[in-house]
Formats: sequence, structure tokens, C-alpha cells
Amino acid sequence: MAIETRPLHPHVGAEMTGIDVRKPLTPAEVAAVDAGMDKHAVLVLPRQDITDEQQIEFTRNFGPLQNGANATLRRPELRLDPAFADVSNLGKNGEKLARDDRRRMASLGNRLWHSDASFRVIPARYSILSGRIVVTEGGNTEFADMRAAYDALDARTKAEIEDLICEHSQIFSREQLGFTNYLPDERAMMKPVRHPLVRTHPGSGRKSIFLSAHIGGILGWPRPEAMAFIRDLMEHATQQQFVYSHCWTRHDLVIWDNRTTMHRVRRYDDLNAVRDLRRTTTKCDGPTVAQEAA
Ligand code: OGA
Ligand code: MN
Repeated sequence: MAIETRPLHPHVGAEMTGIDVRKPLTPAEVAAVDAGMDKHAVLVLPRQDITDEQQIEFTRNFGPLQNGANATLRRPELRLDPAFADVSNLGKNGEKLARDDRRRMASLGNRLWHSDASFRVIPARYSILSGRIVVTEGGNTEFADMRAAYDALDARTKAEIEDLICEHSQIFSREQLGFTNYLPDERAMMKPVRHPLVRTHPGSGRKSIFLSAHIGGILGWPRPEAMAFIRDLMEHATQQQFVYSHCWTRHDLVIWDNRTTMHRVRRYDDLNAVRDLRRTTTKCDGPTVAQEAA
């Protein structure tokens, strides 16, 4: 099957066909996905009706897996293998989460623009999200291109942010939504980690702005000044011209590069409709800046 790539947006996102994710990939297929990712940062592979095991095997082609089970909120009752981030609105037995369920409160953080696992010392490389059950109204996933956003900054801002280091923690993103209800051991796991605000992508050589809702400060800056500046950068980076909005079809497999994009889910009727998306994630090669291990 010939591999074909069709751009979905001027900057970010392409559809890739000709790969069967249920089967082991050839080195040429892995290289084609990596090349597509280097160029488009988001790939949509339609019609991939896969099992959890097939998703994990596919993911292993793209680096070491990051444990996806929520790092910071204790979830003793996992519905899925801990390799997965459960991006559904379901509990262990397939029941819809109640309106005030803590797990639902925490997952509402996905409505804010973010980069996956930016609260970890070794953040995420690829996220691979499989649409097992999708909704017909709302629930689009939006992707913003942090390379195009970087390119569009003026020279002065580029120079200003070049060497800045940000602090990231899930505490900071959840706190934006008023969620502060953590158990003491959860709080201890959420110690802020550091990442540069500008990253250079090893595959493309392009620079990008490394933004995320998990940011809660800039090293050496007063916090309010840092947060006001981060808001400005967020506003710049998520302008419509940098954003591809993905409307899900069942069995879409969407891969994004967390080093060069942010994403968010749009509101949907999660109290009544079922949305079962399952994410596997690979890690970057190492910490982005020298720091103590978390
Ligand atoms: C994720 C995520 C968005 C969505 O899987 O990391 O943020 O559309 N998901 O559910
Ligand atoms: Mn996410």
C-alpha cells in the first residue's frame, strides 16, 4: 500500500493513509510517520480499528512509553492498562462519570491549551490518540502550531524569550479552573519542573514556543509578570491561523508532537454522551534542561 499524505491545514496537520496500524510496521513505515510528523506535527490516520495491544505495539515504534495513567491524581480504579491515558468520560465499569466526580474535574484541564506531560522532567514526545467512541456534537480536538507561532513573533520578542525557563506543574493548570482539592501525597508528586520556553525540534531544526497550561512561572520573574506574559504568548500562539480543529470520526488515530504543538478538547455533553478516546504517549530523549529528578 502506498503511503500518502494530504495536508489538512496550511501549517499543521495532515492525513496519512497507506499504513495498517494493526500490523507490525516496517522500518520504512516508521520512517514515513516520523518524516510526516517532522513536517506536519499532527497526523491523522483514518480507519484504524485497533485493540489496546495493537495501539501499544504501534506506539513502541516511536520511543519509550510514558505511563499514561494520571500521574498526579490517585486513580486506583483504572479502566485501562496503565500505559494508557484514559481520555474518556467513563469510570472503571464503563459508567459515565458523575458531574462532581474528582476524575471529571481533573480531566476538565484538557479544555485548556496544553502540551502533554509538560509537568514531567522528561515530557512527552508523541501522543497517539485513538477514537474508539466519538461524539457527534462538540468534542473537537484543536491543535496549535508552536513553530508557526514562533516564526510569527517579532525579533524583539524572539530575543527576549530565547533563554527563558518556565516552571510547569499540574497544580498550575488545575488551579486555573479552581481545582485545588488534592490529597497530601498527590501534592508532593506535583513539584514544578523546568523547561525552556523556546525549543529547537531535532527532526526539522525549527524553533517553537513551548507553552502549556501547566506553566506557573518564569524563573527569575515575579509571578504575576510571568503569568501576564505567558497569557500574551498563549493568545498570540493560538490565533486561528495557527490552529487545525479535528472533528473526530470513529477509529481515527491522531498523532501529535508535543514538542511543537499545543492542543485542547472543545466542550461536549459528557454527562449524556459517551466519548471513549485512549491515548498512548512516548517520552522525549531526556530532560530539556539540567534539573533534579522529580
Ligand atoms: C489528550 C487530550 C484531548 C481530547 O489526550 O492528551 O488532551 O480531545 N485529549 O480529548
Ligand atoms: Mn492532552
